[in-house]
Amino acid sequence: MDETIYRGLNGVNVDTSQICFIDGDKGELIYRGYDIRELTEASYEEVVHLLWNGDLPTRAELEALRAEAQEDVVLPDGVVDLLRCMPAGAGPMHALRTAVSALAAFDPNPDGVDHENVRRIGTALLARMPVLVGTLQRLREGKEPVVPNPDLSIAGNFLYTLTGEEPSEAATKVMDVALVLHAEHGSNASTFVARSTASTLTDVYSAITAGIASLKGPLHGGANTGVMNALEEIGSVENVERYVLDTLAKPNGRIMGFGHRVYKVRDPRANILEHVAERLARESGESKWFEMSLEMERVMDREMAKKGREVKPNVDFFSASVYRMLGFPADMYTPIFAVARISGWMAHLFEQYADNRLVRPRLVYEGPRGKTFAPVDQRA
Ligand SMILES: CC(C)(COP(=O)(O)OP(=O)(O)OC[C@H]1O[C@@H](n2cnc3c(N)ncnc32)[C@H](O)[C@@H]1OP(=O)(O)O)[C@@H](O)C(=O)NCCC(=O)NCCS
Repeated sequence: MDETIYRGLNGVNVDTSQICFIDGDKGELIYRGYDIRELTEASYEEVVHLLWNGDLPTRAELEALRAEAQEDVVLPDGVVDLLRCMPAGAGPMHALRTAVSALAAFDPNPDGVDHENVRRIGTALLARMPVLVGTLQRLREGKEPVVPNPDLSIAGNFLYTLTGEEPSEAATKVMDVALVLHAEHGSNASTFVARSTASTLTDVYSAITAGIASLKGPLHGGANTGVMNALEEIGSVENVERYVLDTLAKPNGRIMGFGHRVYKVRDPRANILEHVAERLARESGESKWFEMSLEMERVMDREMAKKGREVKPNVDFFSASVYRMLGFPADMYTPIFAVARISGWMAHLFEQYADNRLVRPRLVYEGPRGKTFAPVDQRA
């Protein structure tokens, strides 16, 4: 029996895929043949079409996707009621995970895993996810939910259901870019979890709920909230160095927003988000978060170089200051990641259900053997 161990499944290829290519040494991210840097020109809906259908849409295909998504954009009353029942202090990722799971109960056919049904549920989730997150935040602020506006894009409706105000073109564009950059990333932890879950031929809601559960962790999507919490704790550019040194001095000390399993150079998404953050800082006059981020990278580069390592900013690093400058509270950053990643998760579920093989790796047993059973009263 082969007992080779690949801890964390590092370097293991579990299947083939047509969706995403990452060159971690060159810092390249490609969605279905298109470089991510070019795709920031596209709307999120265009990128969803690309991920789901293999190429960018024609105008007619784009309009069809938008119309399809609008059909199911309104949340079932029962799910809004469920969000209302959440205690005031409930973490938004707990609330989101629960609400997505609950959507299954309101679906007349939650279990079918034929392509048509999976696609129907995926489109509804694509439309509803931003509304869920917007509604969740409004309820947390003690405000009434806003009914989504069918004339707005997914990015626009997210901002609209969050604020209750028609968003500016500039804010919608920044949101679109953020959604495009976070849409897909190959066999990342949450996508792998979603695919593995679907590989039992369970339903889409279960697979997506599992994906959300995985995304929440601080080593994955939860890192963007971690970055903002750190920046808030640090408070000023002068305090950055101390914070980094103190954190690195702790056993297993990690600076959130740095490092990646696949990228050995700077994450290309971080490069794009850095430019967005720089522009927002200039336009808003609120440059503190961006300046602290630059200082953090400078100190990390220096400290990692001492260890002969390169641990570079990832997607979560500059997204934190971008979201801050858009006015979102820190604990909403990971739910926003989920709003974007639903498109990638769904693209992978289409692939998984279309050519399924149960995901079932092994563990090498190292526990005791040959013990003898004794009835409970005879045990020492
Ligand atoms: C993403 C992450 C989990 C990848 O981990 P991985 O591929 O398992 O790599 P490792 O955890 O083995 O890290 C390799 C080395 O780099 C160091 N390192 C990696 N990321 C680091 C970070 N953010 N801060 C400090 N050191 C880091 C580790 O300490 C380790 O050094 P060591 O071998 O001397 O112990 C890791 O980089 C991390 O914890 N980052 C912070 C969380 C984060 O931003 N997650 C979002 C990812 S998009």
